[in-house]
Amino acid sequence: MNKTKPPAKPGHIQSSSSEIPTNAGRRKALLAGLGAAGGAAAAGLITPARALADPANLPPNVADWSKVLGPGVDAYPYGMPSKFEKTVVRRHVEWLTATPESSINFTPLYALDGIVTPNGLCFERHHGGAAEVIPEDYRLMIHGMVERPLVFTYQDLKRFPPQSRFYFLECAANGGMEWRGAQLNGVQFTHGMVHCVQYTGVPLRTLLEEAGVKPKAKWLLVEGGDSAGMNRSLPMDKALDDCMVVYSMNGERLRTEQGYPIRLVVPGFEGNMWVKWLRRIEVGDGAWMAREETSKYTDLMPDGRARRFTWEMDAKSVITSPCPELPCKQKGPQVIKGLAWSGRGKIARVDVTVDGGRNWHQARLEDPIMSKCLTRFYLDGWSWDGNPAYLQSRAIDETGYVQPEMAALQAVRGVNSIYHNNAIQTWRINPTGEVENVRLA
Ligand code: MTE
Ligand code: CO
Repeated sequence: MNKTKPPAKPGHIQSSSSEIPTNAGRRKALLAGLGAAGGAAAAGLITPARALADPANLPPNVADWSKVLGPGVDAYPYGMPSKFEKTVVRRHVEWLTATPESSINFTPLYALDGIVTPNGLCFERHHGGAAEVIPEDYRLMIHGMVERPLVFTYQDLKRFPPQSRFYFLECAANGGMEWRGAQLNGVQFTHGMVHCVQYTGVPLRTLLEEAGVKPKAKWLLVEGGDSAGMNRSLPMDKALDDCMVVYSMNGERLRTEQGYPIRLVVPGFEGNMWVKWLRRIEVGDGAWMAREETSKYTDLMPDGRARRFTWEMDAKSVITSPCPELPCKQKGPQVIKGLAWSGRGKIARVDVTVDGGRNWHQARLEDPIMSKCLTRFYLDGWSWDGNPAYLQSRAIDETGYVQPEMAALQAVRGVNSIYHNNAIQTWRINPTGEVENVRLA
């Protein structure tokens, strides 16, 4: 392990199980409610129901599955994961929202390898439920300050020269429950409002060129066709830079819940702007000050004023193994695995500490390292001796930006904020091997 220069010393350890002013009761309820699915008890969830192997299936015997013909082709016209992996699913937090239609669930980051999220495990965020758009009846309108107002069908959009790109999408509220203290005991819940897929579609610039944007136009209003009619203002520079109007993710058509048949991709920007079931683009000369960029998705500062238009998602990382769902089963060598990302470009470096920040070691980054995309990192060569350990990761992106500690973030932003929490996460490994979400104060 290569040592890098030590940052500030860690201070007093505040456990996630200590009293939390606002949500302590809720947190207890969450852990109780989740039962085997939540927190340290997740060990029971990850381990197969039958903990011990059946000697009859072990060498030198011939295993049961080797004695019979398996199902033929087309037994599953659309393939599903192995039944032994059925606990790997999106999950939501009961108390977080009032209704499932305006709610969110979380990607099971602990169970995934590499950087691509399977479509069925991409977290969902809806403001008015998932719209079931009939593709033949789908239309995308571009109007306002353009030479030629246009209406595209789904087929029209597929006739343009396509482009495929990998990008992460992170909800601005990812980690929003963790501002005041360690709260949720699982990486699925603390960091799971992120996914990363390969999108295929048309550059938004191509469609705007078809319509002919007038010289004074500086903004777009992008609007969804769901019951929420969710809309956001998008600056023209970004629209002409790398935004895409997409119909596929990971090679197949968009899932209903991810905006079928068409969604907007706004690389590196907060997930809220990636409008699903995209139905309308209005071109104008000023921001619309829509609900989602005024009363929501702004950051409330300590002086009571709100920081608005925090579009780019700052560099962030998290250790996905070990984590509360994946405790250390035995002492000895452990590969520490994690994910890092930045809305401003590529990840340049990730450092990992096992002693709460006293010593940092440079992690191994795995190719491909792509701009505005998840990057996989590993720390090889660490051996757990059975004593408590405090694991953290710290991402640095190609602009030189360093992922901050929570204390540094709070010094500027206070604790009233919900959105844009990219603080360093700490996992404590207890002597039992269980892993807990804690805050180093
Ligand atoms: N678009 C529409 N039309 N309606 C929505 O509710 N939610 C937004 C965004 N686009 C939303 C939407 C938010 S807040 C996020 S984080 C992302 O979609 C989530 O995308 P996903 O559900 O594909 O993960
Ligand atoms: Co969101």
